[in-house]
Amino acid sequence: MSIVVMLGAQWGDEGKGKLVDYWSAEADVVVRFQGGNNAGHTLVVNGEQTIFHLVPSGALNPGAVCVIGNGVVVDPVVLIEEIDKLKAKGMMDDDSRLIISDRASLIMPYHKTQDHAGEKKKGKAAIGTTGRGIGPTYSDKIARSGIRMHHLRDEKRLRARLQSVLEEKNLLLTKVYGEEAQDLDALVEEFMGYAARLMPYVGNAGKYISDAARSGKKVLFEGAQGALLDIDHGTYPFVTSSNTTAGAACTGTGVGPCLIDRVVGITKAYTTRVGGGPFPTELEDEVGQRLQKVGAEYGATTGRPRRCGWWDGLAASYTARLNGLTDLAVTKLDVLTGIDPIKICVAYEIEGKRLEDFPPDLIELEAARPVYEELPGWTEDITGARSMADLPGNAVKYVKRMEEVAGAPVSMVSVGQDREQTIVIKAPF
Ligand code: GDP
Ligand code: IMO
Ligand code: MG
Repeated sequence: MSIVVMLGAQWGDEGKGKLVDYWSAEADVVVRFQGGNNAGHTLVVNGEQTIFHLVPSGALNPGAVCVIGNGVVVDPVVLIEEIDKLKAKGMMDDDSRLIISDRASLIMPYHKTQDHAGEKKKGKAAIGTTGRGIGPTYSDKIARSGIRMHHLRDEKRLRARLQSVLEEKNLLLTKVYGEEAQDLDALVEEFMGYAARLMPYVGNAGKYISDAARSGKKVLFEGAQGALLDIDHGTYPFVTSSNTTAGAACTGTGVGPCLIDRVVGITKAYTTRVGGGPFPTELEDEVGQRLQKVGAEYGATTGRPRRCGWWDGLAASYTARLNGLTDLAVTKLDVLTGIDPIKICVAYEIEGKRLEDFPPDLIELEAARPVYEELPGWTEDITGARSMADLPGNAVKYVKRMEEVAGAPVSMVSVGQDREQTIVIKAPF
């Protein structure tokens, strides 16, 4: 096995950080391939919590090289902060343990201004973005007016590039959003400062990953966000601005699909979502409140409370198809302890008519009524379980039903925040 992709199969926050950290002990290379610091990936090791926004979740394992792929949008301020925090903890001392793709796009200060001003302008129709400048940065990348890591290699070239970009950008900022124009000299000076810090890490990430995989090294790709936030396949327009599904693992790194052996979709045993947009199985009752409280469902990036609901099997089978999932990893099963019965959504209905697949249209999704199946719960504490045999029968039945409905076998079950609170059915490498 050479490349294993682990990604979110719901609306994000599925526990990707925890499982990527767990497996990075066995990996040689851990790679982020899309998204930016809209992501918040939580790792808990021996009770100590670390949240990564940009650095791959392999960073706590000293054996793994961490790579930020070309598909990632990088806020240099946040990245430098994360590197400094790791160094202060005595980690990342070896600079060769971090590689940033020379083709990665940079989040500029004006992107953050645009994100905030754009959301404000939308009023009630706001997406509820993380405000990190993600959408505007990806928009500029696609419009071919982005600033990339390699532009920081030379002050003159950065200045020339920024000058042409700012001509249009400042018109937008001042005339459309009523914001202040941004100053070329100040931006060049600020970004050459970041260049001095980041250049030692910048390199040909695509070639590094591909060579590593071809030489038989174990490479773990870490998704950000989740499949239902995918720009093409998610609940558009209430999505993020990148492809979050498995195809992006290739385009966001520079390796071909045949090098990928497995694609593991991570799903909570229930569903959460942060920000606006349709959520058919959302619970606004005491069960929803209980999931939020017991699951500590607050955003790792913005601190916003996460909306909670039953596990959505129709969405799961859809995201299994989108990603070609070879397996499913279930997290937060412990949060369901004490709830009886537990419901699983197996289909949607609109005016009595069953939908065959996840609909593209917001109006349809908002009208969709979930069709539920009820399963018996359990009351035993499962946080100490380390094998399926340690789980109560009803918890095993629940996991088995998830795998039938999603159409992908479950290879891991997580029963607590800590690295150790993990049941492995089939190891990824
Ligand atoms: P990510 O964005 O997918 O990495 O997920 P987040 O870190 O944003 O959110 C997942 C949260 O659930 C974090 O606080 C994790 O520590 C926590 N978590 C992960 N797995 C489990 C689990 O099995 N049980 C419980 N109780 N918490 C978990
Ligand atoms: P991780 O990697 C959950 C959501 C935002 C908003 C929408 C667009 O931790 O799972 P953006 O700032 O990306 O333009 O916001 O996407 N969102 C996430 N929700 N987890 C995330 O990342 C998210 N990243 C973005 O809340 O609804
Ligand atoms: Mg998160």
